[in-house]
Amino acid sequence: MATLTGKVALVTGSAQGIGYAIGSTLARHGARLVLADMDADGCRAAQEQLRSAGAQVVAVAGNVAVVKDVEAMVGAAVTAFGRLDILVNNAGGSAQTPLRIEDVTEEHFDRVMAWNVRGTFFCVKAALPHLKARGGSIINMASISGRGGTELVSPQYSAAKAAIVGMTRNLAKHLGPHGIRVNAIAPGFIKSSPRVEAIWRTRNEAEVLKMVPLGRRGEMDDIAQAALFLASDASGYVTGAVLDVNGGFFAL
Ligand SMILES: NC(=O)c1ccc[n+]([C@@H]2O[C@H](COP(=O)([O-])OP(=O)(O)OC[C@H]3O[C@@H](n4cnc5c(N)ncnc54)[C@H](O)[C@@H]3O)[C@@H](O)[C@H]2O)c1
Repeated sequence: MATLTGKVALVTGSAQGIGYAIGSTLARHGARLVLADMDADGCRAAQEQLRSAGAQVVAVAGNVAVVKDVEAMVGAAVTAFGRLDILVNNAGGSAQTPLRIEDVTEEHFDRVMAWNVRGTFFCVKAALPHLKARGGSIINMASISGRGGTELVSPQYSAAKAAIVGMTRNLAKHLGPHGIRVNAIAPGFIKSSPRVEAIWRTRNEAEVLKMVPLGRRGEMDDIAQAALFLASDASGYVTGAVLDVNGGFFAL
């Protein structure tokens, strides 16, 4: 079984959904954890839940698109635990998509880019001095929609997630010599928080699942297990990779 004993992980967007699932899985495998999310109440609740399950965890409220918030997230890891080894750039999402192209405003466009692309970049930048100290693992959250066309989301979301794929490969080249591995996970159609499930209720799920050879939507644990692999030494020779966790969507 993978062990992260002694390691410190920062997981952004971890008050709920996939980020929470990743955080709790890393903690169960021995990591000390910083939860970071712009939902301050959710962040506190997640911290309490994980502490009562025995995890060593601190929570920081903040927006990954704001550099001083990002610096506070990284600072919390160093203050509480003295180091940082694993950065999971999970915060992001489609911010109100799907929207008709005609309805997308400059604000919508910029918000999706800020939450996903800008946030990922500045989290990496803030974490870098600490990751360079001992080597480490960065995991960026891409999406099936950044890998191929799908009309289920808006174009700006696909563009942001495709940018994360490009940034992951670029960072892997820059940071490999420092012993820092950089990979991405591209989830397919995953059952997630109530917010995400509300979007799914507007879709014809049976129709969507015809594109998925395994015939089901993914569980949050499917993504958490992929993150555990990429965080741990089990993936010690893997960098610059995009791990598609999508039930075989691209096998068609
Ligand atoms: N659910 C899916 O099917 C799916 C598929 C592909 C990719 N993804 C990606 O996985 C990640 C998690 O998705 P989810 O389904 O758990 O979403 P979610 O909306 O349930 O949870 C996202 C969490 O991130 C937080 N967050 C969002 N933007 C933030 C910001 N700028 N700063 C700090 N916190 C922020 C939210 O408050 C929320 O707690 C996202 O990057 C999403 O794009 C999800």
